[in-house]
Amino acid sequence: MATSTVVFITGAGRGIGKGLTEAYLQRPNHTVVGSVRDSTSPAYDELKKSPAASGSRLILVTLDSSQLEDPAKAIKAASEAGITHLDIVIANAGISSTPGPLDAAALNQVVDALQVNTVSPIALYQAARPLLEKSAKPIWISMSSAAGSIGNLPVHQAHYLLGYGISKAALNFFTVAIHAAHPNFIAYAIHPGLVQTDLGNEGAKMQGMEKAPVTLEDSCAKVIASVDNATREKTSGKFLDVINHSELPY
Ligand SMILES: NC(=O)c1ccc[n+]([C@@H]2O[C@H](COP(=O)([O-])OP(=O)(O)OC[C@H]3O[C@@H](n4cnc5c(N)ncnc54)[C@H](OP(=O)(O)O)[C@@H]3O)[C@@H](O)[C@H]2O)c1
Repeated sequence: MATSTVVFITGAGRGIGKGLTEAYLQRPNHTVVGSVRDSTSPAYDELKKSPAASGSRLILVTLDSSQLEDPAKAIKAASEAGITHLDIVIANAGISSTPGPLDAAALNQVVDALQVNTVSPIALYQAARPLLEKSAKPIWISMSSAAGSIGNLPVHQAHYLLGYGISKAALNFFTVAIHAAHPNFIAYAIHPGLVQTDLGNEGAKMQGMEKAPVTLEDSCAKVIASVDNATREKTSGKFLDVINHSELPY
């Protein structure tokens, strides 16, 4: 039997997480561990029906990013389902914050964004690390956002999305921290484009567009191509815009 590539993806029920889950499942010999927030949601049942290529399968686990202990529980559930290593972990689940002027930014939204977009990925990393270390090529992907680029903050006017921007900038810091702490890991942050998902279309409308310019299929294909070609030397520690094939400033 061929060895399976094991991919763990958070936020698999909707948007980019769902697109990545479906795309990886269409590859032969891939095991996708997808986490969803709520196992009673229709998205959970729909995801279970995703077609899979030969030798590929989906394991669904639950993970609510607002609960500190959930990432460890999700990794435990994956282990109990027979997962003994992880090759790729994609910390994808995320929330935005309501746009508004800096001086009126809702503090509870800053806290919520930090919890879901930053602290939960840290907890996921801590729980997943032992399984990643068993991979021949461990890859950690942080699904970040150009809104988290401090260098480009004035360009993107990201101060209108304070909680979102700060939480993604902190996620980027943590991603480089993984890169620095583990010389054998490939760890990097991705901006997936302004994508046609609930979050992306909302962001596009905020900027006066009818909808986001990048299709889900295109974004997911480019994220996966980036992961396929990632190397410690050329990719790890970076913040990449996979749509424009460019590096973003931290
Ligand atoms: N779309 C874009 O243009 C864009 C641009 C830059 C970066 N990103 C990043 O890409 C990632 C995916 O975004 P998306 O566009 O796919 O957004 P989306 O369509 O709004 O989906 C968000 C995903 O995150 C999950 N999630 C949110 N809060 C959660 C929580 N507390 N616990 C567990 N899961 C939670 C959602 O699960 P539920 O279904 O349970 O809510 C859903 O699966 C995010 O990190 C986002 O910041 C997106």
